[in-house]
Amino acid sequence: MGYEAIETASRDEISALQLERLKWSLAHIYANNAAYRAKCEAAHVHPDDCSTLSALAKFPFTQQADLRAAYPFGFFSVPEDQLARIHASSGTTGQPTVVGYTKDDIKTWSTVVARSIYAAGGRPGMKVHVAYGYGLFTGGLGAHYGAEALGCAVIPMSGGQTAKQVQLIGDFKPDIIMVTPSYMLALLDGFQAAGIDPQACSLSTGIFGAEPWTEAMRREIERAFQMNAVDIYGLSEVMGPGVAQECVEAKDGLTIWEDHFYPEVIDPETGEALPDGEEGELVFTSLTKQAMPIIRYRTRDLTRLLPGTSRSMRRIEKITGRSDDMLIIRGVNVFPSQIEEQILACKSLAPHYEIEISRTGRMDDVKICVECRPDADGSDDAKWLAYQIKTVVGISSRIDVKPAGGIARSVGKAVRVKDLRKPV
Ligand code: DLL
Repeated sequence: MGYEAIETASRDEISALQLERLKWSLAHIYANNAAYRAKCEAAHVHPDDCSTLSALAKFPFTQQADLRAAYPFGFFSVPEDQLARIHASSGTTGQPTVVGYTKDDIKTWSTVVARSIYAAGGRPGMKVHVAYGYGLFTGGLGAHYGAEALGCAVIPMSGGQTAKQVQLIGDFKPDIIMVTPSYMLALLDGFQAAGIDPQACSLSTGIFGAEPWTEAMRREIERAFQMNAVDIYGLSEVMGPGVAQECVEAKDGLTIWEDHFYPEVIDPETGEALPDGEEGELVFTSLTKQAMPIIRYRTRDLTRLLPGTSRSMRRIEKITGRSDDMLIIRGVNVFPSQIEEQILACKSLAPHYEIEISRTGRMDDVKICVECRPDADGSDDAKWLAYQIKTVVGISSRIDVKPAGGIARSVGKAVRVKDLRKPV
């Protein structure tokens, strides 16, 4: 059973609710967002054309560039005096993407995060340590409001101050931590530096997201802390954390809270909607958002839609990369997560790494800087790692093994790739 009855309702009931809400969302955005209405007019579609869920495929996509062009508030569908919150994500280039919420939107968001924490094993009365950043980033406040809505006590720690985080986890004894998986590794260093056994700490559950992480990383964290590590997904343009959540009993991908967010997977080249089970780019349509409804938002995240297991709602496979994170190295498509998996298969190497790509003439050079575990000598594994990356991932690389602590730690989302190539 879930936090709310709808999570285990029949597929017919969920689809009927989705269609009713989809019609409302299309009518609302068409009436109140001139930029999206213009896109509909250019595509000769009108909200009245959406009589079935599959008819949504006729509507134009929304891309990050549409939000940027409407900076700051041009994509909102309510007057400014109805806003309760504004967040922004810095993205990779220049202008931030701005998103807005009404009071009801904040309530919806809190509910889906409460559902997510519940699905992760959280229950009222537990303590939740939030180490996602607070501020314009949606991670900290999104997790915070959700944990409160569930009836938990929140420790609003935010990111950074690693030694203090370790001390407070020891003193306040939270049950759950919400943080990026890469910063969880920095906290692990903090435990070791303080001489505290991480397995003896109070944390029984970690809810990790905001960046890709692999199954190998899950095993690493679960072993180090003797905890359940589950995945939470979301993005500011669609809401924030809590668009989808992995259920702790199955750990088999993330359940999409489909009564609020309608998913599609498309072929990123042609824009064609793909059948469930096929891999492509994830696209979301909000079904209940008031301040900034969004139709067919192209997330750039690559995954597959899978049938429900622990809930009636569909799942996405763990996201291991974004189309814009994909590296093309000597013509081979590579995701950093593929390299992470190979690193974590080496006993003497730690899960801290950086991939540096440079170009000599027309040739790409790949250097992988990776740390060895304390008291280990990584030199044998370095050879094995280069061999594995060559045979499994398909690229040649130089491995530079650094001593423990030799790779900079991230506080929020990890930046693992340095691409120094200049266009030839
Ligand atoms: O990262 C929201 C969030 C906060 C999610 C805390 C989970 C936990 P943005 O900063 O807008 O929002 O970045 C969204 O981050 O399109 C994905 O590429 C990536 N991402 C988020 N969660 C995951 C995840 C937040 N669980 C972008 N696995 C998304 C892989 C993720 N990538």
